[in-house]
Amino acid sequence: MNLKIALLPGDGIGPEVLAQAVKCLQAVEEVFNHHFVFKEAPVGAIAIAKKGTPLPETTLSLCQEADAVLFGAIGDPKYDNDPDAKVRPEQGLLQLRKSLGLFANIRPIMSHQTLLNKSPLKKEIISGTDFVIYRELTGGIYFGEKKLNAEGTVASDLCEYSEEEISRIAHLAFKAAKNRKKKVTLVDKANVLESSRLWRKVVGKISESYPDIELEYLFVDNAAMQIILNPKQFDVILTENMFGDIISDEGSVIGGSIGLLASASVGEENALFEPIHGSYPQAKGKDIANPIASILSAAMLLEHFGLNEEAWAVKKAVDKSLKKGIVTPDLKPKSQYGTSQVGDFIAHNIVDIEDNINMNDENIDLGKSTII
Ligand code: IPM
Ligand code: MN
Repeated sequence: MNLKIALLPGDGIGPEVLAQAVKCLQAVEEVFNHHFVFKEAPVGAIAIAKKGTPLPETTLSLCQEADAVLFGAIGDPKYDNDPDAKVRPEQGLLQLRKSLGLFANIRPIMSHQTLLNKSPLKKEIISGTDFVIYRELTGGIYFGEKKLNAEGTVASDLCEYSEEEISRIAHLAFKAAKNRKKKVTLVDKANVLESSRLWRKVVGKISESYPDIELEYLFVDNAAMQIILNPKQFDVILTENMFGDIISDEGSVIGGSIGLLASASVGEENALFEPIHGSYPQAKGKDIANPIASILSAAMLLEHFGLNEEAWAVKKAVDKSLKKGIVTPDLKPKSQYGTSQVGDFIAHNIVDIEDNINMNDENIDLGKSTII
């Protein structure tokens, strides 16, 4: 398959982790005879520094012309600590999501057998967790009208949803549930918010056309508690933009590290793949950031184009790195493996799908070289 992939490394650790995902995609190209053309463009704080805007016109058009976008990370402490900043790196990502019409953000949350003890949650609670969050991505409070009075003392952000915005993602969530455990949980705050009551009405109606799927409603405060109390009860969680943002970070605790969580953002015509983690500026350039979320985002890209065997090969190589302990320090505090070594290991194991690489397990345990 020929694919044009736009690379948007962004800020902080974005470029480092994205480079590992590219290595893995190149390994897939080689093994499965595909042809991927990568083109890179700036976004976020780096784009503000270079071009004065977080989403330059040329970056947007590159993404529009590409088959898919692979995104690194966005954000810089310089802007986080300045409430008066007029331009912010995050605006680049938000504009990109809106301009590409990426209305559905899909975030799988899973426990890994080998990492059960990495989570602060009890093993018996998280073991076997497997759910996916369908987060609405281009509406709600993120994109509603923002106001600040002249004195700068009163501010508001409007949370608005239309029936159409709710129904298009709801259909995707129900369709996903069909191939899973056949349950959709709508997370909202319908006891307080009018917008949530509209979600209930629209989603309730849509559920009638999916009779084999169970629909359950949960208030977001209760959902936040249930996710860490009994995460196994969930299959597909459907929710609006901001609730989805918050509960997906919470869900990442189940996997053992936020550095493992991938996501796909899809629309009618475009698709973007990115880790759910931020730009982790403290780790920038230190070669310690976990590249797995970025690599698994590349696997989601492959799945999006129906390249399931290829995606499986990537995931299998990731599993191997977890099992063998070829991981970054977030997963193994004294680990001597850096971002790029983990990326190399995973890419090598995609090429050597039959598991023929002569691994020196003793060296691995000592944190030395992995391949002899
Ligand atoms: C995410 C991020 C973004 C969001 C930020 C960087 C704007 O936290 O993708 O979850 O809030 O959507
Ligand atoms: Mn977030």
